Amino acid sequence: MKSSTITLLKILTWLACLSPAAWLAFGAFTNNLGPDPTATITFTTGLTTLRLLTISLAITPLRRLVPQLSWLIKFRRLLGLFAFFYASMHLMTWIALYTGFDTNAMAADIVKRRYITMGMAAWLLLLPLAATSTNWAIRKMGGKRWNRLHKLVYIAIVCGVIHYWWQVKTGVLTPLTITVVVAVLLLARPVLTWVQRRKVRAVVA
Ligand code: HEM
Repeated sequence: MKSSTITLLKILTWLACLSPAAWLAFGAFTNNLGPDPTATITFTTGLTTLRLLTISLAITPLRRLVPQLSWLIKFRRLLGLFAFFYASMHLMTWIALYTGFDTNAMAADIVKRRYITMGMAAWLLLLPLAATSTNWAIRKMGGKRWNRLHKLVYIAIVCGVIHYWWQVKTGVLTPLTITVVVAVLLLARPVLTWVQRRKVRAVVA
């Protein structure tokens, strides 16, 4: 893949990742966020976080299945950082619009509502990943330790999915599609490793 093509794709990725925030900002300025703007902001930021995490999770299995797509790795950090950006907007929406910056209300919500506890866990797991996303941090930590730490993304995405299920009403199945996609992507890794090992064994035998 030519570097000019990568640059163009990066610009397009930036625009695509910024579009939900731009849509929310435009809706806020034009008073057009529907009857419950807080719910619209929570929904858009929460779902965008999950979608971006899911897309970044798909990169490794895709590269392993189609080696010609190995350049996709250049997009993983960008997608991960945008996921953290939206998770933080989502968290700020809760802090500002649900609790009104009231620390007692925040503490009570975290303790009493299990979906808030799970959401908070997901955000806290993403925090060290965002903090160590620079080249400097990778160099300082060393590839092995950095890779080990960044495995936290799997737990974070599972917490995000559980958080989604726990906040919908009983019987509502909207989180199902993303749950299936995440489950397939999480299973793809061990399955692909197993298939690869079998192939190597067959070649050696
Ligand atoms: C990686 C972290 C997180 C992800 C992926 C995530 C994702 C989601 C999703 C997909 C929804 C459903 C939106 C809807 O259908 O309306 C949601 C709702 C919500 N989330 Fe999160 N969330 C995360 C973290 C948090 C955190 C840290 C908090 C606050 C502490 C939080 C508070 C809420 C609230 C208040 C709702 C709306 C519940 C309602 O409609 O009553 N989330 N989240």
